[in-house]
Formats: sequence, C-alpha cells, structure tokens
Amino acid sequence: MQRRILAWFQAHRRALPFRDDPDPWRVWVAEVMLQQTRVEAMLPRYREFVARFPDPATLAAAEEEAVLAMWSGLGYYARARALHRAARRLARGGGEIPRAAAALKELPGVGEYTAAAVASIAFGEAVAVVDGNVRRVLARLFAVPGAPGRAAFERRIRELADELMRAGGAADPGAWNQALMELGALVCLPKRPRCGECPAAGACRARAAGREADFPERAPRPAATVVSTTRGVVRDAEEGLLLVRRRESPLRGLLDFPGGPCRAGESPRRALAREASRRYRLELVPGRALPPFPHQIMHRKITVFAFEATFAGASPDRLPEGARWVRPDHPPGIAAGAIFRKVLRLLPAP
Ligand code: ADE
Repeated sequence: MQRRILAWFQAHRRALPFRDDPDPWRVWVAEVMLQQTRVEAMLPRYREFVARFPDPATLAAAEEEAVLAMWSGLGYYARARALHRAARRLARGGGEIPRAAAALKELPGVGEYTAAAVASIAFGEAVAVVDGNVRRVLARLFAVPGAPGRAAFERRIRELADELMRAGGAADPGAWNQALMELGALVCLPKRPRCGECPAAGACRARAAGREADFPERAPRPAATVVSTTRGVVRDAEEGLLLVRRRESPLRGLLDFPGGPCRAGESPRRALAREASRRYRLELVPGRALPPFPHQIMHRKITVFAFEATFAGASPDRLPEGARWVRPDHPPGIAAGAIFRKVLRLLPAP
C-alpha cells in the first residue's frame, strides 16, 4: 500500500517550487504559508517572499514593516512575525538552520508540524508529519474512531503515522510525508473523496465498509463569539486616507482605518469615537454609515460597522503618533489587514 501511494505521488504530485530543490529555508517559508493558505493562492506570495528574502539572514536584516508588507493578504501576521524572530535568532547564532526536528521546534513559531515538514523534506529525517490532510487520510485508511482534537484520536493517528514512517516511509521521509499530504489534498477529499483514483482504495477500511465519508468524525464546533467592530474613514482631498498603525494584537504592525471593538450595548458610532480617541488621540465624528459587513477570524464572527468620518475640530497640522495620511491608490509595500481591504472596496470613488 505504501509503495502504491509513493508511486501515485511521483506521477501526480503538483509542481511546488521547493520540491525539486528542497532548500531548507524555502521549505520552511512554504510550509508556514501552506498552514494557512491553499497552494494556488500561496504560490505567487511565496515566490515574491523568497525572492526578496532568499535566506534567514536577509529576513533578519529587514524591518518588521517590510516583512509584514510581503505577507500582506496571507493573513495570520503572527506567523510572519514569528518567522522574522526565528530568522533573527538564527542570525545571532551564526545563521545555520537546525537539521533536526527537535532543534527546529525550539525556534519561535515552529511547532510539531513545521519542524517535521522541514526536517523530513529538507534534511531527510524520518519524522512523520501530521496535518489535517494526513489526519483524514489515516482516519479513513484505518477507520480510526473519534474526532480530530480528541486525545484518543490524536494518539492513534500519531501512532499510525510513526509506524508508517518506520515501515515504508523512512527510505525517503520527505516524499512519504508529502505523498500522504498530497493524497489528502487531491484525492481523499473531505466531502467527496475520489476513491476511484486512490492508490490505497483497496486497503482502505473506511471504504471497505462503505463509510469513507464517516471518517474522521466531526468535532462539535466551538460556539462562535459574536462581536462588533468599527472603522472610520477620514478622507482629505490632498492628503488621502487617514490611517493608523495598529498597536494591539492580532493586527499589531498593520495599517488600518482608526476604530476598534464595540463594548457591550455601545453603539458603533460611540465606539468609533471612543476607540479612535483612546488608542490614537484622534478626535473623530462619525458621519454617513457604509453598509455593515461580516468578517470571520478563526471562530470570531465580527460585524464591521464602518463610517465616513471627519475631525471633531479643524484638521490637525500634525497627526498624533501612529497615524498618517496614505494616498488612496494604496501604494504597494504597505501591510494592511483584511477588514481594511474590505472597507476600502466599499468606498465610493473620491
Ligand atoms: N500541504 C502543506 N505542505 C505540503 C506539502 N509539502 N506537500 C503537500 N501538501 C502540503
């Protein structure tokens, strides 16, 4: 069964840029990006990123603003910041990327998954990668009961992954790990698995029972927290848009419209004026409301209330620290969050 999966991988694998030249830095960057973005969406951003930062030393030498800007649109900026910190730590220690998964895991932002992916793909260490695709493939092949996230399920999957790595995977650990991930991404799909194309269909216990869609069991979703947030759009014919550099996580370091979350029972207009004043010393008067829209981050369901806004008094000569004018054509090289980009699309042409 493992030989068939590997042969299938050699024949059907996607041409990912780090596959023919598994340079550890490129593999690392790619795997961090792939944890949050599909391959097709990630590839252009990946190419730009490694062209600009071809090794950890180049990334270490860059300003955080430039790093976040290159990550723009990928989301989860905490991952870019952690990668930056890791590169800086490596640069201080001589620049070599550790070869072993155990040592990689000591670096900021490098968890079990990234460590195993880099160590196996770039350095040939026989450590099994377990990601969402691998969980699903193994849960079906071995009819593993339970839901992802549950201790017993995770323990069994880890055992199986390790066993398969020892058995048929260790000859080429990077290929074996990627074959399982690729099988999950292309064939053993969550909703409609393409069992007709699967090299392991004959060995699949879920398929034998006609129950491939029942594995893995679905974990009950955590209840979404529902919150409201606000943004104020101040425009000046000459200067452009009034933006702030966020100081609070998860948006820290990104440019955004001023604003912030509503408190319980607080009206969005009030929340906008309060947040802009408290956080950025900007005294704003909310005006016309733009259409509210939903935005979801992890399990937070956010309703965004954006307003056109003006200064409470005269337009200040000097903006408070953290605020700046930006031309509305949004010059490249500025990292901005997803809510910012959604609000921008709602604005009528100036
Ligand atoms: N998903 C994340 N990393 C991957 C890889 N190296 N190959 C296939 N799918 C992946």
